[in-house]
Amino acid sequence: MAQNWTPTSWRQKPIQQVPDYPDLAALAATEERLAKFPPLVFAGEARRLKSALANVSEGKGFLLQGGDCAESFAEHGADTIRDFFRAFLQMAVVLTFGAQQPVVKVGRIAGQFAKPRSSGIEKQGDVSLPSYRGDIINGIEFTEEERVPNPERQLMAYRQSAATLNLLRAFAMGGYANLENVNQWMLGFVKDSPQAERYRKLADRISETMDFMKAIGITSENHPNLRETDFFTSHEALLLGYEQALTRVDSTSGDWYATSGHMIWIGDRTRQADHAHVEYCRGIKNPLGLKCGPTLTSDGLLELIDLLNPANEAGRLTLICRFGHDKVADNLPRLIRAVEREGKKVVWSCDPMHGNTITLNNYKTRPFERILSEVESFFQIHRAEGTHPGGIHIEMTGNDVTECTGGARALSGDDLADRYHTHCDPRLNADQALELAFLLAERMKGGRDEKRMVVNG
Ligand code: PEP
Ligand code: CO
Repeated sequence: MAQNWTPTSWRQKPIQQVPDYPDLAALAATEERLAKFPPLVFAGEARRLKSALANVSEGKGFLLQGGDCAESFAEHGADTIRDFFRAFLQMAVVLTFGAQQPVVKVGRIAGQFAKPRSSGIEKQGDVSLPSYRGDIINGIEFTEEERVPNPERQLMAYRQSAATLNLLRAFAMGGYANLENVNQWMLGFVKDSPQAERYRKLADRISETMDFMKAIGITSENHPNLRETDFFTSHEALLLGYEQALTRVDSTSGDWYATSGHMIWIGDRTRQADHAHVEYCRGIKNPLGLKCGPTLTSDGLLELIDLLNPANEAGRLTLICRFGHDKVADNLPRLIRAVEREGKKVVWSCDPMHGNTITLNNYKTRPFERILSEVESFFQIHRAEGTHPGGIHIEMTGNDVTECTGGARALSGDDLADRYHTHCDPRLNADQALELAFLLAERMKGGRDEKRMVVNG
């Protein structure tokens, strides 16, 4: 077990981004109740994810992580979950084909409720109120009453997570995720896309491969892995009282696990080495993510790696890099070199969302070209450094929202007002998310062809 660590040791450390609960007795009572609730995920599942991520860190897989910036109580429903899962699986199939490697599927879902904010106060006209911190803490409506942190919301978030996870498990194991279905949905997307010509070649090759497999007798009836899929959950471990309440000892190993989700991550604003969030995360055995932004120094990163993964276990730590399309070239190479020099085992993932947010017509948005550009730079830099570009981390929804500009349908600043529904940051809609997967798959394949030419030439 981590030295001098308990599930409560974070309470002795300085902490950022804490809500100001007016009724501390009510908060404590809620946390006590939550501590008696069943775990949402099991230690064995978290270990299975860790071993899949260990393969990614060794260059033998690709991580696809994505979902809402913030899940909301208002958008909770079977259709929203189904549409997300459908878009996500299509991306996974396209990326599996592009990478010719297993894709590890991790949703930002079933627990992604708490949001760090750059300011504790939001001002509209003459009125200042506490900022919205996610549905698990307070309400998004700009009224005094809604913005008061309310512990009851933690119970709602727990129940929504349980219901979401229940449906996702059924989708993943009950036949809905059948590869033949996913391929049909994907073909539907290609047919309707303004970029149909560009995507058709890759789509046809996937279909041909499936026809070939069928011809030699590999079908979903006789191969469960064609009709079932592994799907994992993740969220930012921001609200530590909630996390602590769901931290449990695994009876098999005697280790502590966060049972609020399979993987949890530390945000860019709460990654101070001597503060509470790092303290909490270092003691649990789940796979961890660490957001790496432009202010993270190379030595600072190595210090965090030693704290979070002292045994240098493969699959334990994923570095989620979120620099911005114009800053990635200045920052990623120095971090890669520091990690390589010290022989640290990590998964390198690219979050092309959080460094590319701009304001347009009073909406927070992200241009698709910048998102694509950051991921492309991420791939190029890893190729140049000889390291593995292990994954992407995106904010997306399965719905047809208008929150990010660009993409094949060329959403403009004027379109944003149409269907802007996010509770926090702008998400790629289903079409934009799948386009990103196609464009990346094209490049992954290009990279492999280049390597083959070097080997054969
Ligand atoms: C997020 O992932 O929604 C987020 C707030 O990211 P970051 O911590 O990288 O800013
Ligand atoms: Co976000």
